[in-house]
Amino acid sequence: MAAATAAAITDRPAPTISGLNDLSAAVVAGKVRLKQMTPSIPSASGAAFASGAAFVFGTEVLLLALMNDDSNSGAAQVSLERLIKALPPESRLPSYRDLQERYRLGPATVRRVLADLTRRGLVETRPGSGTYTAPRRVATAPADVAWQTLALGTRIGLGADLERMVTPSPADAISMASGFLDERLQPLGLLAAAATRAARRPQAWNRLPAQGLTELRAHFAAETGAALTAQNVLITPGGQAALSAAFRHLAGPGDPLIVESPTYVGALAAARGAGLRLVPVPGDRDGVQPQALSDALVRTSAKLVYLQPRYSNPAGTVLRRDRRQEVLDAVVSRGAFLIEDDWMRDFDLGQPSPPPLASMDDDGHVIYLRSVSKPIAPGLRVAGLAARGPALVRLRRGRISDDLFVAPVLQQIALDVLTAPGWSRHLGSLRRALRERRDALVGAINAKLPHCELFIMPTGGVHVWLRLPESCSEPDLVTRAASAGLIVGPGRMCFAGEPPASYLRLSYAEADSPALVTGVGILASVLEEG
Ligand SMILES: Cc1ncc(COP(=O)(O)O)c(C=O)c1O
Repeated sequence: MAAATAAAITDRPAPTISGLNDLSAAVVAGKVRLKQMTPSIPSASGAAFASGAAFVFGTEVLLLALMNDDSNSGAAQVSLERLIKALPPESRLPSYRDLQERYRLGPATVRRVLADLTRRGLVETRPGSGTYTAPRRVATAPADVAWQTLALGTRIGLGADLERMVTPSPADAISMASGFLDERLQPLGLLAAAATRAARRPQAWNRLPAQGLTELRAHFAAETGAALTAQNVLITPGGQAALSAAFRHLAGPGDPLIVESPTYVGALAAARGAGLRLVPVPGDRDGVQPQALSDALVRTSAKLVYLQPRYSNPAGTVLRRDRRQEVLDAVVSRGAFLIEDDWMRDFDLGQPSPPPLASMDDDGHVIYLRSVSKPIAPGLRVAGLAARGPALVRLRRGRISDDLFVAPVLQQIALDVLTAPGWSRHLGSLRRALRERRDALVGAINAKLPHCELFIMPTGGVHVWLRLPESCSEPDLVTRAASAGLIVGPGRMCFAGEPPASYLRLSYAEADSPALVTGVGILASVLEEG
């Protein structure tokens, strides 16, 4: 291959005159020895014509063989343009003579076509070297992607809500929309030390068993308080990936999924993406209502239920102790699965909340999920998903088909941070800071937003759920707040159907106390203006 490349370069003497027109003149005058194009390794410097390009070129030859004369330079231009667009940047084009011979075009036509392409920035001539595709494609007109409308058809479900939620707020805005901790609350020292250690480990870049790092899986299994071991746990790249995997691999398009209403926007997005039929059941200040859940299970024959029993997103509720067995019994009696998303397991701000429902289940009804992106940092895309029996096998195989496995370095960092001597100290100071922020936010709401109603005073988690006055248009308020420099979470996106009232989700994970107070002031002014 290297020899062919070298031959492709050295067999052709440098032209005596440069420039596209002059070069073609040199070709016509026979000053450049022409040879068959030789496929070679693609080269960034463009020293040879790429092998992939040879294939494309071959296709073009077929197309152009039909033309077979010089009369149709328009069609030649189109075909040559297509060829050039299919080539990597800086690929050397076949010689003029080659183009003439292969496309059966006259020299004047080739010259004209290449001159036009040069003018349009698609190719360039390098004196003494040849004609190359441009270093980078130049957009000559806006891309015409209208054809995709037909190719893709319609697909319900993939709305923009989650996309909006994960888009970072503008740097100069006060963000009360995201549930991720800001840098001031992240354990950056622990992370830096863990990252350094993890990257230096001899196996850092090798692969692990696809289920994940055994010690991390054992850690997550032990946290559940259930009789689970490392064998029951799969590591996923965050909680969102775990939810998406559970919805796609434990159910099929059209199957019902029962969700507490309101619920996490990302769960709604993942369920819609999986083609599931959402069945909302009401929650109140003590979490999901067991009777409503039971009725929905009977009515729909659903085999999947999704709940966040601890500091639910967005309502902030904890499933009351005396409801826990009832909820589990309802699921067990219908032979269903309960996906328990324990996203806020580290965020008790007062009394410890009850242990996971998973700890009460021995027979594989509860699929338990715990992510580290909230207590550690959003960029640490690591979560544990625990299951038993055939559901575990489905999830394991499904996860492998999704993306094989999670980067071992990330898993090692997560394990190192979660088991570091400084971890419980970090959690202590995190909780203190969040408590202070929550109190500042709630205090400001009570003082400045008398017409809004806090759903509950959250005893943990990172946000409050605020009911807006009847007269208020939530989308309008959210837009006007954003214009005034305050980003808040629109409540409507947390409902599978039409919201029963207008709500905002206000998070205290990203903004500090003074910013939260300022933010509530902005909200008060915007509400007043409206
Ligand atoms: C309730 C809930 N579950 C799961 C997730 C997914 O989190 P991640 O993918 O960052 O682990 C989120 C993110 O905000 C969430 O709010």
